[in-house]
Amino acid sequence: MYNKVLYFISRLPSRIYWKIKNTVLRWRGCDFSEFRDQNISLETGYQYRANQVNIFRRMLRKVDRDYLPFDQMLFFDAGFGKGAMLIEAMKLGIPLVGGVELSESMYEICRKNLKILGWEKENTKLYQDNAATITEQLDEFNLFYMFNPFPESVMKQFIQNIIDSAKRKPRKIFIVYCHSTLHQTLIDAGLNLLYDHQVKIPFKPEGIFYNKIYSL
Ligand SMILES: C[S@@+](CC[C@H](N)C(=O)[O-])C[C@H]1O[C@@H](n2cnc3c(N)ncnc32)[C@H](O)[C@@H]1O
Repeated sequence: MYNKVLYFISRLPSRIYWKIKNTVLRWRGCDFSEFRDQNISLETGYQYRANQVNIFRRMLRKVDRDYLPFDQMLFFDAGFGKGAMLIEAMKLGIPLVGGVELSESMYEICRKNLKILGWEKENTKLYQDNAATITEQLDEFNLFYMFNPFPESVMKQFIQNIIDSAKRKPRKIFIVYCHSTLHQTLIDAGLNLLYDHQVKIPFKPEGIFYNKIYSL
């Protein structure tokens, strides 16, 4: 109980910040709120919740510093939702940004968000599809990013699609996996773990998020 109260208090500044930011964005016609598309079953995919910007930037800066510079990154968000991380990727100066989103309504909201905020670019490659079935479209990208988007059956197929893409078009590939609940699935598929970053949530002993970088 004591920990629950402390946890609630520790989250207040960030909650207030996001409440204000989201209200301003809503005034402008944007929508980045959490969303569960009732047309998607939990066996196919999880709900939309944007990643924390500081964690996203930290992971991408690590890739930039040690493995692949921003100006050579071709970034693909598997399950981009309402597009918050696509915008963050563009802000980092990444030249090609794309992704796939299963939910039709979130795909539409994302396009609207990008348009309103002035991030709608001709070379942004957004697909409304299932990550398990997307194949040749992956050939253009070398950095695949995920934030706990879908369950194991989809993950296995999506990773296999990336491996097949690397066979079709040989290149160095990196994968950033935030909140990596299916780490072992990626290892079993033959990916190499390069970096492991843990985020501990204060006053929540069970609340550790694992964020990882892999190569293929
Ligand atoms: C946790 S959110 C991550 C959003 C965003 N990538 C981020 O980092 O802020 C997961 C997203 O994956 C999408 N998704 C779930 N299953 C999917 C699938 N099979 N194919 C494509 N997208 C999927 C969901 O609709 C949701 O928008």
